Amino acid sequence: MTLAAIVLAAGQGTRMKSNLPKVLHPLGGQPLVLYSVETALALSDWPPVVVVGVGADEVRQTIGDRAEFVTQAEQLGTGHAVRQAEATLKGKADRVIVFYADMPLLRAETLRVLVETQARNAGPLAMLTALGDDARGFGRVLRDEAGHVTGIVEEEQATPAQLALRELNVGAYCFEAEWLWKTLPQLPLTPQGEYYLTDIVGLAVAQGLPVASAAVDDPDEIIGVNTRVHLAELETALRRRINRNWMENGVTLIDPAATYIAPAATIGRDTTLLPNTHLEGSTTVGENCVIGPNTIIRDTTIGNHCEIECSVLEGAVVEDEVEIGPFAHLRTGAHLARGAHMGNFGEVKNSYLGPGVKIGHFSYIGDATLGAEVNVGAGTITCNFDGVRKNRTEIGAGAFIGSDTMLVAPVRLGANSRTGAGSVVTRDVPEDSLAVGVPARVIRRGLKGT
Ligand code: UD1
Ligand code: CA
Repeated sequence: MTLAAIVLAAGQGTRMKSNLPKVLHPLGGQPLVLYSVETALALSDWPPVVVVGVGADEVRQTIGDRAEFVTQAEQLGTGHAVRQAEATLKGKADRVIVFYADMPLLRAETLRVLVETQARNAGPLAMLTALGDDARGFGRVLRDEAGHVTGIVEEEQATPAQLALRELNVGAYCFEAEWLWKTLPQLPLTPQGEYYLTDIVGLAVAQGLPVASAAVDDPDEIIGVNTRVHLAELETALRRRINRNWMENGVTLIDPAATYIAPAATIGRDTTLLPNTHLEGSTTVGENCVIGPNTIIRDTTIGNHCEIECSVLEGAVVEDEVEIGPFAHLRTGAHLARGAHMGNFGEVKNSYLGPGVKIGHFSYIGDATLGAEVNVGAGTITCNFDGVRKNRTEIGAGAFIGSDTMLVAPVRLGANSRTGAGSVVTRDVPEDSLAVGVPARVIRRGLKGT
C-alpha cells in the first residue's frame, strides 16, 4: 500500500494582509510551509506533492528538492487544488493524505492515526475532527442521529444551528486514491466561485459510502494561520511544545514563556537557560552550560560547561569551559577554544582564539589567529581592513598585548612577545620581544623566562 501526501500551499492568505505569501511567514524562525513538508516526510517515503500558486517560485525555492511541486494557476478552492496533483500521483499511490500548509503544528503521529482510521474504513475517506468552542472559520462537521458523518459545511454557508455545532473540520483527510481522482471532478461550484474539497464528504455519503473520522485532542495541533493574531498564538504554542520537550530532556528553563528555542536547536542536559535567551537556527548547546539572560545565539555550536551572559553569537564555534560576556559579540567564523574568556564589549569575527585566551574588555579581533593563553589588553584592536582588503593578524602563544594596542594587519607577533600600552604595531614583532610606541619598535629581546 503506497501512501502519498499532498500539501496545499497555493493560497494568497488574504487575511494576513501581507505582500508575502502566507505559507512563507516565519514561525519559530522558519517558513510555515516547511513544517508541513517535514511532517509529510515523516509520514511517507515519497516526497510530498506541494500545490503552489501565489508566490510559487519563492515557495518552491524555500522547500527545495524535498518535495515535488504542482502549480495551481488560479486559486479556485481546496478541491481544485487537490486536482492539480492528479497527473503526478494517479496510478502510483493507493492512498492519498491531504492537508493544509497553514496548520503547521499538526503532528505526523496524528496523521498516522488518520491513515490507520482509513485503513479500517470500508468507505473511501477518513477525516480529522476536533471539538472546540472557538470556531474561527473552521468548517463544521455534520452527523446523522446514528453519529455517522454526513457532510462538512463551511462557515459562510452554515445555518445558525450548524454554526452552533462544536465539532470542527481540522482539514486533513486520507483518501482511497482511485476514488478521489474519480470524484474530484464532481465537486460543485460554490456560490463563492470555488471548488471546496470539503464537499467531497457529502459526495461519498450520497453514494452510500461511509466516511470515517478520528479526533484530535491537543488544541495546539489545530491552530491554523488565517491572520497574524493566529500566527502569534502559534508562536506561543510552538514555544510551549519545544520548551516542554527540552525540560523533559533535562534542561532547566527559568522562565519558559520567555525562552525562545528554534525547532532545530539542540541542548545538552543540565544546561540552564535564563530568561530572554534566543537559540536560533541550527544552534547546538552542550551540557552544564548557563546561557543568558538576554542572549541571542544563532547557528552556533557551544561545548560543555560554558557561561554566556547578555551576548550575541552568530555563526561561531565555542569549545568547552568558555566564559563569554556580558555584552560580547561573536560573529561568523569566530572560534573560541577551550577555556577562553571574553569579557565586556568585545567583538570577534573570523578568528581562532586558542585555549585559555583572555580578552577582558573593549576589543575588536577580526581575521586573526591567537595562540594558547594570549592575553589581550583592554581596548586592543586588529586593524584588519586597509580600505581595500581584509588582512590577517597572527599572535603566537603566550603573547601579552598591552592595553589599547592597534595591530595594523597584516602583522605577526611571535610567541611570548609583548606590546606596550598604546602601541601601534605596523611591523612584525619577533618572539620573546617587547615592542612599544607609535609606530611600535622592538626595545627588548629575549624576554623568555622574564
Ligand atoms: C479550510 C476548510 C475548512 C477547515 C479549515 C481548517 C475548505 C473549503 N475549508 O478552510 O473546512 O475547517 O480549512 O483550517 O477546504 N489553498 C490552495 N488553493 C486554493 C485555496 C486554498 O492551495 O485555491 C490552500 C491554502 O494555501 C491553505 C489551505 O489550502 O493552505 C486552506 O485554505 P484556506 O483558505 O485557509 O481555508 P480555510 O478557510 O481555512
Ligand atoms: Ca486556513
